[in-house]
Amino acid sequence: MPPQDLPSRPRRLRRTETIRALVRETTLAPRQLVLPLFLIEGEGNAESVDAMPGCARLSIDLAIHQAEHAIELGVHSFALFPAVAREKKSPDGREGLREDNLLCRAVIAMRRALPEACLITDIALDPYSSLGHDGIVSPDGRVLNDETVELLTHMAQLHAQVGADFVAPSDMMDGRVGAIRRGLDGAGFAETGIISYAAKYASAFYGPFREALDSAPIDAPNVPRHKKTYQMDPANAREALREAALDEAEGADILLVKPGLPCLDIISRLRERTTLPIAAYQVSGEYAMIRSAAELGRLDETAALVESLTALARAGADVIFSYYAMEYAGWYRLEVTK
Ligand code: PBG
Repeated sequence: MPPQDLPSRPRRLRRTETIRALVRETTLAPRQLVLPLFLIEGEGNAESVDAMPGCARLSIDLAIHQAEHAIELGVHSFALFPAVAREKKSPDGREGLREDNLLCRAVIAMRRALPEACLITDIALDPYSSLGHDGIVSPDGRVLNDETVELLTHMAQLHAQVGADFVAPSDMMDGRVGAIRRGLDGAGFAETGIISYAAKYASAFYGPFREALDSAPIDAPNVPRHKKTYQMDPANAREALREAALDEAEGADILLVKPGLPCLDIISRLRERTTLPIAAYQVSGEYAMIRSAAELGRLDETAALVESLTALARAGADVIFSYYAMEYAGWYRLEVTK
């Protein structure tokens, strides 16, 4: 058959790996990744998380080891989440404001052991709340906004004081970024940044995380079983842009979108509207989906995680939170910088 007279043959740019690499539009470097770490009390203590095979809750010493290993691979940023013992939880989450709680001790120890690392702390009540909510729940079952924001502002000051580089409010209360910014500045922490979970959806994909922290909303009278009065409806996109614009105006340094892959459109639309860095969170359920399918032999795990993280970067994310950060960095060393 004679060759067709085609004016354009896109396949020419896909002919060899060298050419494909030459014209590749998106490269995600390990330095752009944030590794979430789940913390527990004790020493030499590791508890696997059933819903997230391959992830564990680690005592502070083991978390430091894990972080050192990540740093060798090129991942220098860590998001810290304390798994707080049930008996320390209360309806108002006051453990979260205690100066020597697990999270504060972890930040101090990691800051000392890894002076160059970027440490990001979560600002929300849920790890400390016996009811499993990010805010204060009123007796008639409402999650109270302004009362919660006041507590979160104190929490942010505490995290700044122990040495966090960024506080990351993940609670979705109204006005919390502005309140936290003023609270930090007023307490002498003008250099501490805010990564705002600007568009955080009420997502089914957080299930495994809530198992990791034992932080799901409890089944009790006048306690909402979901977080839909503060986290966003997955059906909405314009609302995400509105939330992001508010957080930017209130002083956020980085805007985070969550979950990741279900929100590629949100990341990409936000990319066109803000000059701030955008972060995306490949959440626990996204990790568990890939991991579980791979364990059943139904997916190539490395290919799937690399494709997912690259898609988030392609959509416009500059920074990506991922439980796969170290696996990605290992792949990057072998395949990209070989
Ligand atoms: C809570 C918080 C959640 C996650 C991060 N911070 C869960 C929730 O909102 O219920 C989810 C992260 C993940 O699923 O990996 N403030």
